Amino acid sequence: MCGIVGYIGPKPVVPVIVEGLRRLEYRGYDSAGIAVAGNSAGLELRRAPGKLVNLEAVIAANPISGTFGIGHTRWATHGRPTEENAHPHRDCTGSLVVVHNGIVENYLALKHELTARGHIFVTETDTEIIAHLIEQELADAAKNGKQNNGRHSERSEEPPHFANDATNIPLEEAVRRTVHRLTGAFAIGVLSAHEPNKLVAARMGPPAVIGLGDGEFFLASDVPGILHHTRNIHFLADGELAVLTPHGVTLTDFDGHPLHLKIQRIQWDPIQAEKAGYKHFMLKEINEQPRAIRDTTLGRISLDTGKVFLDNLQITEQEFKQATQISIAACGTSWHAGLAGKFMIERLARLPVDVDYASEYRYRDPISDPAAIGLLITQSGETADTIAAQRELIAKGSKTLAICNVVGSAVTREAQGTITTNAGPEIGVASTKAFTAQLTALFVLALHLAQVRGTITADQSLRLVDELSKVPSKVEDVLRSVDLQCQELAKVFHTANDFLFLGRGIHYPIALEGALKLKEISYIHAEGYPAGEMKHGPNALIDETLPVVTIATKDPNDPSSVLKYEKTLSNIQEVTARSGRVIAIAIEGDEEIKHLVEHTIQIPQAPELLLPILEVVPLQLLAYHIAVRRGCDVDQPRNLAKSVTVE
Ligand code: G6P
Repeated sequence: MCGIVGYIGPKPVVPVIVEGLRRLEYRGYDSAGIAVAGNSAGLELRRAPGKLVNLEAVIAANPISGTFGIGHTRWATHGRPTEENAHPHRDCTGSLVVVHNGIVENYLALKHELTARGHIFVTETDTEIIAHLIEQELADAAKNGKQNNGRHSERSEEPPHFANDATNIPLEEAVRRTVHRLTGAFAIGVLSAHEPNKLVAARMGPPAVIGLGDGEFFLASDVPGILHHTRNIHFLADGELAVLTPHGVTLTDFDGHPLHLKIQRIQWDPIQAEKAGYKHFMLKEINEQPRAIRDTTLGRISLDTGKVFLDNLQITEQEFKQATQISIAACGTSWHAGLAGKFMIERLARLPVDVDYASEYRYRDPISDPAAIGLLITQSGETADTIAAQRELIAKGSKTLAICNVVGSAVTREAQGTITTNAGPEIGVASTKAFTAQLTALFVLALHLAQVRGTITADQSLRLVDELSKVPSKVEDVLRSVDLQCQELAKVFHTANDFLFLGRGIHYPIALEGALKLKEISYIHAEGYPAGEMKHGPNALIDETLPVVTIATKDPNDPSSVLKYEKTLSNIQEVTARSGRVIAIAIEGDEEIKHLVEHTIQIPQAPELLLPILEVVPLQLLAYHIAVRRGCDVDQPRNLAKSVTVE
């Protein structure tokens, strides 16, 4: 989603903002713009459709400079991704600009009202109305101020845009009055040429962070945009408004009541948000999975006792014991993690689990028992649908727990506890390391629930914790052994028009995730299916052109896993009998399957509930290499955004 970067400080403003926007490119965008002020030229604006290089070319051809400014990368919602629709947007005078992430739902009504009052709109966007609303508030205040001062009132008849330089309220007060008029979701940054060295930011919905440096201050829609300048971050909460000046940051609510900054020291290393020699962030992040998994278990498991520790939860063991259900809500890849988590929790803790798309949850009038625990799974912690599902769960009386990669994000602030996935910043739009870290966190949670509910023995705990600790090095083995093979398979299959991905039980969510990875980044149509459902429809698709990726792994020590494996072998035969081309994911040493299928990718053996973490790695690599061969923009696939902060 849209990226915002604002800066006030001694450094040259334009490079700080453009570089910040570049680091937010992963959020997805289709046009970009910047406004700077504070020199003799007044407020200057440059914008361009397409990628940041276009904006840089515009700036190079027509340079600008100033002492404070804001920039924006826009992911089109209202209006096409053209130069005119790119942010920042101006008021009638051109001396005040706004950047915005989110959607103003009542923008049409506001636009009519403002048009009737003489405002001229030049874009199709909802954002432009915010600039005009602020202009109007300043004009009204100036007018009232004059009337109150008993001065002559001719100017009150003037169109509102002439009154902007005669304000008697500060910019932040006009912004405060404006945000009260907006419905929908917004994170905004505002500056005015008439109030030098001041940036105003406000949030209701989409994320925004304030960075506090040494004599310099930043606004951004996500931490990586400013992390190379400062690690001291205040996550703006809904209903907060910040004023940045060269002397510091003041924070209030939308009614002007003072609030305290809650500064968090971000531990992420800025280098983690660089490509580190890899061709794409996605490839780097795939390769970071062993560390992400290890760091997610760190300090949470004891290899001596098999015990699991989850700290800082405001959900007691008693509440976990008495829970009647776990209600999971998530989106995209995180939803797939939730589906796999259902198998983990139900099997180990014998506790029923519901898994919803967060975008559906609040609209289905869910029946939720207050003794159910809500579980939100989200890489960013800022997905609008997931936040809404969390609020619905809270409204129904449930406590909520988050599995999240961003400490301080919206979901973690409202949750009664967070199991942090310590994957480090994930930049590639297609989630990889955050997913395997989520699976790891879910396994840890399932074990914790099983231990407090007494559904597994100490010996079982010990064995599972031991197996969990071996997963990172097994993922390392997978990365080493299957990458070349995935490249070869990409050579063979990159021209396919469709793919099927099959799995049973806990492997079915991984089939879904394999299909999602492929369609997200290579634009090949792909579907994930439970292998047993093939005969009820998808079999009709099979012919000699259809690659069918089948997850056919097993834990030989687990009879139910072996049974599912045998059923999957039958499904494979149904596909090959119809000339479908099977790529099987199987465990090392499985010779039987090699005779049945065209291609086999082998992964190490593990307990059934941990196999998904290993299985998904070749599927990520296959999608990656196919997308590279097709010349796709792997890290920023078309039409997609990393963090979807609108409904
Ligand atoms: C977007 C991203 C996906 C992600 C989903 C949920 O669609 O492109 O990769 O899985 O949002 O995001 P979350 O941050 O809530 O996990």
